Amino acid sequence: MSSIPWWKTAVFYQIYPRSFQDSNGDGIGDIPGIIARLDYLRDLGVDAFWISPHYPSPRVDDGYDIADFYNVHPDYGTLEDFQRLVDEAHARGIRVLADLVLNHTSDQHPWFQASRRRQDPYTDWYVWSDTNDRYRNARIIFLDTESSNWAWDDVRKQYYWHRFYTQQPDLNYDNPQVQEEMLNVVRFWLDLGLDGYRMDAVPYLFEREGTNCESLPETHAYLKRVRREVEATYPDAVLLCEANQPLDDLRAYFGGDPADPSVPGDELHMGFHFALMPRLFMAIKRGERTPIVDILRRTPPIPANCQWCTFLRNHDELTLEMVTPEERAWMWDQYAPEPRMRLNLGIRRRLAPLLDNDHRTIELMHALIFALPGSPIIYYGDEIGMGDNIWLPDRNGVRTPMQWDDSPNAGFSTAATLPTPVIDDPIYGYRRVNVAAQQADPDSLWHRLRRMIRIYKALPALALGDLAFLEDQPPAVLAFRRHWEGDTILAYHNLSDRPQTIFLPPGQDAMSGQTLSAGDYRLPPYAYLWLRATG
Ligand code: NOJ
Ligand code: CA
Repeated sequence: MSSIPWWKTAVFYQIYPRSFQDSNGDGIGDIPGIIARLDYLRDLGVDAFWISPHYPSPRVDDGYDIADFYNVHPDYGTLEDFQRLVDEAHARGIRVLADLVLNHTSDQHPWFQASRRRQDPYTDWYVWSDTNDRYRNARIIFLDTESSNWAWDDVRKQYYWHRFYTQQPDLNYDNPQVQEEMLNVVRFWLDLGLDGYRMDAVPYLFEREGTNCESLPETHAYLKRVRREVEATYPDAVLLCEANQPLDDLRAYFGGDPADPSVPGDELHMGFHFALMPRLFMAIKRGERTPIVDILRRTPPIPANCQWCTFLRNHDELTLEMVTPEERAWMWDQYAPEPRMRLNLGIRRRLAPLLDNDHRTIELMHALIFALPGSPIIYYGDEIGMGDNIWLPDRNGVRTPMQWDDSPNAGFSTAATLPTPVIDDPIYGYRRVNVAAQQADPDSLWHRLRRMIRIYKALPALALGDLAFLEDQPPAVLAFRRHWEGDTILAYHNLSDRPQTIFLPPGQDAMSGQTLSAGDYRLPPYAYLWLRATG
């Protein structure tokens, strides 16, 4: 196994630093707080975590508007704290990924402030224009708040280009100085021992007239350069691609040769499977496997030295950009009946409320992202079925404080008031839903997911094996075979609220260790079975 990169068999976890653990009573989660909770992550069994932006920022886009790429937000701690986080995580065998936001900065970044005053060398570090009608084919991403990708700057008396909030000017990648500087940023954190990056918003680096300004050849060329630089000095580091794009365009971010998956990838190592995610929600609501099978059949093969990252939720809205308008309308109807639950082209809700707080389906959906090809990532709080707060603006409703116990502020903070309140409703409130309570109950969702992580690690075929669907099953059952180095796992998932009868070959139930003989087997509603084939 030594030649297999660590991230191919890893279980990932996403931490929202502002909401994980406050260590100094100011009501804001911070890095010393995360350090204090590293034992928790080790107990859960995750191999790596991705921490959303930790950099100085006015937080218009909650940290994705960076004002200094070489430092830590004072609310979160210091560079020394960050170094300690990496060291302490490593001491526990846990790897750390940070967010790398290449595409844009905050408008408060000194580079932008200098650029708008035409101060060299920053004059051309952003995309300036006398008119606001260039690149008309580029879509607007933050549809609810932005009406144009151009904004007027009264100091420079020109428009600047921004794919996200107005306060997030895009960097000008046609400028070689920008390209160089962002490579310095990449190296800076890896030199501290960081294990990789979640590569934010990579499709938008370059703009070209007459195109939609997404996934352009120039953008791929630059990302390949980032990969080369990283690989040369930090061969263990991983680059995880955030590109919410159609399947073929997504495939391109792995590099290599799209027509020939035997050619090794030379761009980003991993990529979030944005097309699979909404289909998991469709399948479970419809109680049948077709949406999942269809999308995986349409998923192009990727090079052997690459890996998908499978996910259910994250800190953003559940995006419906990669489904048809009809499917989107259906998803909104099913999962976001109230307008407040919708944002841009998505749904701003957490996993547990989406699944009606049914711990069977929450576990089953995790089983799917574990058993299907790709390394799974768990969004903080989903392991205990945390709720959301749709009354908070933007995506804040899915970024509420982690619920550790039933003490005031859920054990998250000792502050008198919190900038983002803890969830305190009768169903999802911290008095009921918290880590301590679930750790004390061996049958809780937390313990079930913890067991799932342990079993997953004992079944390398689920991480590394090839995939073949088993079609001779009821439509409500998603069944497939994963095979790797003489080990065959048969995975059956009942997506419906009724028991299903499946036919099994002889094997061993990987969860219970029980030996099962060939024949009919009754899979309870929303249950799954991972069978180690012995026949
Ligand atoms: C994707 C991030 O996940 C999201 O939170 C952010 O708003 C945009 N990129 C812009 O950086
Ligand atoms: Ca704090």
